[in-house]
Amino acid sequence: MLNCDTLIRNARVVDGSGAEAETLDVALRDGRICVLGPSLDFHGTSEVDAKGLALAPGFIDVHTHDDMGVIRTPAMLPKLSQGVTTVIVGNCGISASPVSLHGALPDPMNLLGGAEDFRYPTFAAYVEAVREAQPAVNVGALIGHTALRNNHMDRLDRSATKAETEAMCAQLQEALDGGALGLSSGLAYLSAYSASTDEVLALAHPLAAAGAVYATHMRSETQAILDAMNEAFAIGRLNRVPVIISHLKCAGIDNWGRSGEVLHALETAQASQQTGCDCYPYSASSSTLDLRQVDERVTVLITWSVPHPEIAGQTMAQIAAAWGVTQLEAARRLQPAGAIYHSMSEEDMRRILGHPATMIGSDGLPNDPRPHPRLWGTFPRVLGRYSREEKLFSLPEAVHKMTGLPAQRFGLAERGLIREGYYADLVLFDPEKIIDTATFTDPTRPAEGIGGIWVNGILSYTAQGATERRAGRFVARGKTAWIQ
Ligand code: ZN
Ligand code: CU
Repeated sequence: MLNCDTLIRNARVVDGSGAEAETLDVALRDGRICVLGPSLDFHGTSEVDAKGLALAPGFIDVHTHDDMGVIRTPAMLPKLSQGVTTVIVGNCGISASPVSLHGALPDPMNLLGGAEDFRYPTFAAYVEAVREAQPAVNVGALIGHTALRNNHMDRLDRSATKAETEAMCAQLQEALDGGALGLSSGLAYLSAYSASTDEVLALAHPLAAAGAVYATHMRSETQAILDAMNEAFAIGRLNRVPVIISHLKCAGIDNWGRSGEVLHALETAQASQQTGCDCYPYSASSSTLDLRQVDERVTVLITWSVPHPEIAGQTMAQIAAAWGVTQLEAARRLQPAGAIYHSMSEEDMRRILGHPATMIGSDGLPNDPRPHPRLWGTFPRVLGRYSREEKLFSLPEAVHKMTGLPAQRFGLAERGLIREGYYADLVLFDPEKIIDTATFTDPTRPAEGIGGIWVNGILSYTAQGATERRAGRFVARGKTAWIQ
């Protein structure tokens, strides 16, 4: 009989590849999966009987704003409690590093923290801080275009000059050399909206040689969405770089019903280049309060406001009525502020979520005092509500969207699948019971149905909650591999 650290017996192994589940024993040693097979003749220092439970690779949250969270709140409960074992930070053009602030924190970098939190002038300094904090989950990082603009430009309402773009490129290259996964942009935000396509095209150039990706919160998710997709695809195609469309959605009532066209555009691009997207399983979005998204027909919930903190939890309609002004005027007075916009159709969201090109990304906002429930609920909701209850996709397909697929696309080597030799990032859950419990009114509740979570072989969470051990690592870019 051979020895291992942990032996998980009789699990329904959903391996992350999309293949059907199989009942197997899984032996872990030194942070990795050492052997996988039926009825292993092993002795484990710790043994778990997983009969009736599913064992999947730990979930990879491809779209997060946990840049500061992994350092300030390394227990990372909102994510760990869902089965997430790896977060990708630095999305939507905003990243904790490399950042040197001069003056006010540009919107939406304030989603990550206050000015005092931006303490990482180089990517290496950020990586070091993550290592020191030893978060409970692994961390991979993108570099934000808006963060780079902040570093090198005196004002953000214009395109960068050639010299500024070169300086941004040099900083991006340094981060890529240090293991960054790629570049993200947030072109819809006013801090990047004035950047020309050429600016982003030039900035994305170093990604190809590094084997890195370009992820984009597009210039538009409303009427001009197809133009915005074409811009993103052109940036990828001309640079020969994979493109990931962040939180793909058809936002705004006038845009409802367009998911078919949008997915058709994605499929057309897939025929000639590497591209995919991520999505969260809710028909409401959340970000800073944007005057362009205030629409009397849409319920907009204010989650925080610097001048009016007492107003958090009320809708724009309530606030405007109480103040006797229009919603737009009320929104102006609330800024800077955060909001949840109930501005998508469930039908469109489902169609995008179910598409094979779609990965799962929470887009959760950990600094928000009244966060959108996606922060705590995304992954169990996909498994419980959209796979088990609504049968939008099978369990193996759902797991693939949150494990094997993102690991290949972002180049997270030896993660995302249950394979001998891979890192032992694992989640044990009850496929009949797993469900999100976080709601818009009670948004910080942990999911139900999680049995155990191992991060790099260390048991980090059980049905009773977090264990004392945090075992996440900084994950540098490996090789990306795409299957469309
Ligand atoms: Zn975004
Ligand atoms: Cu985002």
